[in-house]
Amino acid sequence: MGAQNTAAMIEVKNLNLSFGQGNQHNQVLFDVNLAVHGGEIFGLVGESGSGKTTVLKCLAGLFNHWQGELCIDGQPLAHRIDRARCRQVQMVFQDPYGSLHPRHTVETILEEPLLIHRIEQRDRRIDTLLEKVGLGPQFRRRYPHQLSGGQRQRVAIARADSRTTSSVAG
Ligand SMILES: Nc1ncnc2c1ncn2[C@@H]1O[C@H](COP(=O)(O)OP(=O)(O)O)[C@@H](O)[C@H]1O
Ligand SMILES: [Mg+2]
Repeated sequence: MGAQNTAAMIEVKNLNLSFGQGNQHNQVLFDVNLAVHGGEIFGLVGESGSGKTTVLKCLAGLFNHWQGELCIDGQPLAHRIDRARCRQVQMVFQDPYGSLHPRHTVETILEEPLLIHRIEQRDRRIDTLLEKVGLGPQFRRRYPHQLSGGQRQRVAIARADSRTTSSVAG
């Protein structure tokens, strides 16, 4: 069975979102619809300020005043953010300078979500996560400023991978 015949991994239906009240009111998303299947690479293209990041922030639970329907792996996403939802969707931010704590080592950065989600065998898992993104165990002791931009983004991807089934990038 082809990927297109299975339920979408990420589904956005009639998504609407506005910021501000009264004369500050600004509708940013107007009935956005998209579906991404498992294993599919999906590019969302639009001019700057058109709402791409806002769609992803709704999926990641960073905005919860949206209207419409969001589904991950066939399950509707609630507006409320709970631990299960946090495990389900992770965001890899555009700017890895801003998304990694400058005073934490790679090891600490990767360990934090494992602790929060009470995932065991953390030490082994950190090595596996690093290996999956092409970084060796010697990177564990490094700080973000000691990494290249691409290596930092790999750490951000490893962190997103640590307890989720789906990641969104933007
Ligand atoms: N937290 C916010 N409060 C108010 N306006 C916002 C907020 N975040 C984004 N916006 C506005 O929403 C619009 C879409 O932004 P964004 O989704 O970041 O665009 P992009 O397509 O470049 O990723 C822009 O006009 C931006 O100024
Ligand atoms: Mg953006």
